[in-house]
Amino acid sequence: MSEKPSDSRPIGVFDSGLGGLTTVRQLLRRLPHEHIVYFGDTGRVPYGTRGEDVIRRYAAQDCAFLMQHDVKIIIAACGTVSSVAPNVLKELPLPTISVVNPASRVAASVTKNGIIGVLGTAATVKSGSYAKAVKAAKPDAKIHAIACPMFVPIVENGWNGVKDEVAKLAVERYLQPLKDAGADTVILGCTHFPLLAPVIQNFLGDDVILVDAGEEAARVCQVQLAETGMLNRENEGEGDVNFYVSDQPSGFSTLAERFLGVPVKKNVHVVDPGTL
Ligand code: DGL
Repeated sequence: MSEKPSDSRPIGVFDSGLGGLTTVRQLLRRLPHEHIVYFGDTGRVPYGTRGEDVIRRYAAQDCAFLMQHDVKIIIAACGTVSSVAPNVLKELPLPTISVVNPASRVAASVTKNGIIGVLGTAATVKSGSYAKAVKAAKPDAKIHAIACPMFVPIVENGWNGVKDEVAKLAVERYLQPLKDAGADTVILGCTHFPLLAPVIQNFLGDDVILVDAGEEAARVCQVQLAETGMLNRENEGEGDVNFYVSDQPSGFSTLAERFLGVPVKKNVHVVDPGTL
């Protein structure tokens, strides 16, 4: 009987900061035996308000850093990078997953009325990435993309609770047009937005389907590794997770735990952004 192939190299995940830990959280749930290397560019966050050339350059540097760690696949957890720099990912000599395509395919398949909302950073919305990907799967879909830049600091300040007036007001202010348009499906196309999901759901109503782009990317990663014989089948225990950041700002532990769902107590390494 032939043994199933196994690949013990880590999965690489990167983001402009710590928000991408929402994707790591999903990976840990689905693939607990995998080793993970995370790079968060905390020294240069945010990416979402920057120009395209800078985002592309940073994305290429982030990927090069992960490749130094012999990763077998790279997930761009950052909605902004996935939207603005898909070619940087495609040109790499290893498999890559962006958060745009998995979420767009799911949204296109679950919508009933074809009206789909997309929430992201300014750069993500300007790129039209999700609209293009949804329309590739469902040409008659109507897309309403809304840049919600204030959601990022609201989540980072921990003001994202269902009862928080700031969160409720910001959600109402940004999403009223989406409600008016009658969207039945909404893509959370930014690392931070899953943490606002309960407030968004309350405002839009229980019938609206929220698609978490990081969760869908983690699911696609699981499928792709299984199909290509790249799962780490030899490891029966928990995989190691190593966190690399380009700055360890004050409040790091609180913020990291907010996104990851569990405390980050060890394996945190600081990288000088000048070496990227
Ligand atoms: N991680 C970014 C994203 O998902 C949000 C924060 C930023 O602007 O860098 O688009």
